[in-house]
Amino acid sequence: MIISVTLNPSIDKYYEVDELLPHQVMRAKVVSNTAGGKGMNVSRVAALAGEAVTAMGFLGGHCGNYFESLVDVSNLNCAFTKVRGETRSCINIHDLATNLSTEVLEPGEPVTAEDLARFLTDFEKYLPLADVVTISGSLPKGVKPVFYSQLINLAKKQGKKTILDSSGLALAAGIGAQPTMIKPNLHEIRQLFLEDISTTEDLVQIGQKLNAKGVEYVVISLGEDGALMVCPEGVFSGKPPKLKIVNAVGCGDSMVAGFACSFQRNYTVEDSLRFAVAISAANALTARTGSFQEEDLKNLLKEVRIQRL
Ligand SMILES: Nc1ncnc2c1ncn2[C@@H]1O[C@H](COP(=O)(O)OP(=O)(O)OP(=O)(O)O)[C@@H](O)[C@H]1O
Ligand SMILES: [Mg+2]
Repeated sequence: MIISVTLNPSIDKYYEVDELLPHQVMRAKVVSNTAGGKGMNVSRVAALAGEAVTAMGFLGGHCGNYFESLVDVSNLNCAFTKVRGETRSCINIHDLATNLSTEVLEPGEPVTAEDLARFLTDFEKYLPLADVVTISGSLPKGVKPVFYSQLINLAKKQGKKTILDSSGLALAAGIGAQPTMIKPNLHEIRQLFLEDISTTEDLVQIGQKLNAKGVEYVVISLGEDGALMVCPEGVFSGKPPKLKIVNAVGCGDSMVAGFACSFQRNYTVEDSLRFAVAISAANALTARTGSFQEEDLKNLLKEVRIQRL
């Protein structure tokens, strides 16, 4: 079983309007609500790929109940810790005239020390049932960056594999706890090292530095150029074919889901990278964020190129 942690989930509201006009009333042509947050994308993709997933984090109020009702994938079990504050919404308004999106992200209610303590109790209850733990996204207000390290330490103590996909201070602090894998994109890796990183050699060096710090698998995702994986088995690049994409949001999350499934199935390093690149590229071929078509995955698995560097 895979535990996916989403501490700051949201109801993602998507509107399509003919034209986005400030200070005017607009009527939405298309409305959709999704149980969102980066970890929820991971949960959905891993569950769609056939793995049992337990989604954990904080949910609150009527919005929290509504969020749970939006989870529509079998073998995805919600085990969120309930809090007082209402679960937030994030709004994406898509302007059909320009094909551009405008987003409004609610910050969400802060969680208390007591909420965190209850979450840890819940987390420890589910941990023995899990093989892999994924931790994704930002921290709610009131949670210190070191909290992710705490989760990684608890999981490692029970011999579970951990994948951390975050940014900034939360990523930096989490690395200190030596998760099994991190999956920064180029922007996140530059933010972390504040260095001029541009060539593949630079990325390999950074990956090896992180290996030396105790992160066994460093995967740097490069959008349409695929991903670079630096690990004890060597350095590998995984490249998807050139695609006509529909929606690339959540590709990174789908990649994390791909690696979580691969850990669960004990794939070799090459097969893990192939599966993760294929499933993340398949996500870009569907409109729904954090989703894929079985047929796309099947085709992409044949087309992804894995190379040892
Ligand atoms: N345009 C694309 N064509 C094919 N594959 C893609 C494309 N964009 C992303 N991918 C696949 O998804 C993986 C992750 O994408 P990316 O590097 O954009 O992650 P990210 O920035 O963390 O995304 P997010 O945080 O929005 O989920 C890539 O390594 C690649 O395999
Ligand atoms: Mg990402």
